[in-house]
Amino acid sequence: MTPSTSSAITLNINGEKHTLPVDHRTTLLDALRERLDLTGTKKGCDQGQCGACTVLIDGRRAVSCLQLAVAAEGREITTIEGVADGDRLHPVQQAFLDLDGYQCGYCTPGQICSALAVIEEHAAGWPSAVTADVRPEAGVPQLTAEEIRERMSGNLCRCGAYVSIVEAVARAAQVQAAEAAQGPSAGTEAAA
Ligand code: FES
Ligand code: FES
Repeated sequence: MTPSTSSAITLNINGEKHTLPVDHRTTLLDALRERLDLTGTKKGCDQGQCGACTVLIDGRRAVSCLQLAVAAEGREITTIEGVADGDRLHPVQQAFLDLDGYQCGYCTPGQICSALAVIEEHAAGWPSAVTADVRPEAGVPQLTAEEIRERMSGNLCRCGAYVSIVEAVARAAQVQAAEAAQGPSAGTEAAA
């Protein structure tokens, strides 16, 4: 018997379940864009080098062009369409908007998804390749421009908006830290 080359899978994207038949070779990127009309996630190189297709899988960054859709079944996938809270932009989105962290905008969904994870990874104390002191007792490194550049280095911007992108990530990290310090209702109150 010839093995089947397609299956029906259920993807959990932005809190919603989507069941669809896919060829086993379909990437998550193509499933999002071509099958589910979630075109916010962009295709740049289609070979894992530009970061335009970055999404979050179980909260971690992943380039969706190198991920098979079938392998994403059962995971929590967040795309740019799921980042805002209704009409309220996420602080990372707001910072990109306020500080012009883009020009053409093509790389921006991937930049924002990466930035979301960068801020979480940094707050959790993860060191980067440019962290001077990686001993646990050294604590969380300062989120300097150099740290942000290194941590965001998987996301290319053909427009060269890097200076503003770094500023936007730094601003968003400050806003999120301030909101976290004020407690869970801070964001809701700010939006009211
Ligand atoms: S399109 Fe996936 S990394 Fe470039
Ligand atoms: S804003 Fe144009 S590629 Fe980054």
